[in-house]
Amino acid sequence: MKKFISVSDVSSISKLVDKALAYKASPFLDKTLGVGKRMGLLFLNPSMRTRLSTQIAAQNLGMDTIVFNVGPEGWALEFEEEVIMSGTTVEHVKDAAPVLGKYFDILGLRTFPLLKHKEEDYSEQVINQFIKYSGIPVVSLESATLHPLQSLTDIVTIAETWSEARRPKIVLTWAPHVKALPQCVANSFAQWINAWGQADFVITHPEDYELDEQFTKGATITHNQEEALRGADYVYVKNWSTYTDYGKIYCNDPNWMLTNKKLASTNSANVMHCLPVRRNVELSDEVLDSANSLVTQQAGNRVWAAQAVLSEILTS
Ligand code: CP
Repeated sequence: MKKFISVSDVSSISKLVDKALAYKASPFLDKTLGVGKRMGLLFLNPSMRTRLSTQIAAQNLGMDTIVFNVGPEGWALEFEEEVIMSGTTVEHVKDAAPVLGKYFDILGLRTFPLLKHKEEDYSEQVINQFIKYSGIPVVSLESATLHPLQSLTDIVTIAETWSEARRPKIVLTWAPHVKALPQCVANSFAQWINAWGQADFVITHPEDYELDEQFTKGATITHNQEEALRGADYVYVKNWSTYTDYGKIYCNDPNWMLTNKKLASTNSANVMHCLPVRRNVELSDEVLDSANSLVTQQAGNRVWAAQAVLSEILTS
């Protein structure tokens, strides 16, 4: 694996999931694989789980890690080509990224969309510039449109909790939120579950919250949450802002919040969320604090997913 930006960089999801679960069973299985190698983790936005789990994963493989919070600590970066840099940006990515390529063997990068111009965000200009100019493998720690380490984790969590012979029914449901959030987690979850192909996959959201079809194609999509939840084995809860009329909040109907009452029609579904979660906005306390909730197990699995990805990059 030369980079990890989306599911397209993975040759076999099932093998990667097996590798993650092997590391979960034996964290130091490959403890010398990354000895003498260094990973840089650049954050243009806040993070708790991704920042910590990826460092632990790298360290389990013997790598050194350095975290750099570009936002508050680094120079303001410019990404436009042929721009006259007479404004607020201080350093062009063309100059910064090759330097990082000299310091590190692998570069992890978290960016976020601005949610102003769809074409700009969906071109993935920021992460693509780092790939182009750093000259080393780049791992997405969440980009403008996708969150692949989260999605791999989500499949690891489903795989380790599902023991029946039949295919599970997995439902991705939109939830209310107080802020306009990116579509990254939902896009990425849809992309990975579709590519995995081992579940009956339903997406439910209010009208006007359609995601980009390039990620959802293959899923059943409905605006009727009650119908979607019926018989679900897994319910993945996530807010996202509108994609078509980009970055807006059209609906914040609290009736879309997942509650125990709604779970009653499911197959005692496992409930997932990438975290951080707004309690009693996206998900009720009663659900998050119940035995149905997988959120802590899911966040714990971030380590093993990251370790499997770094291992693939180190051995390629
Ligand atoms: N789920 C997730 O990426 O969490 P952080 O933003 O805390 O890294």
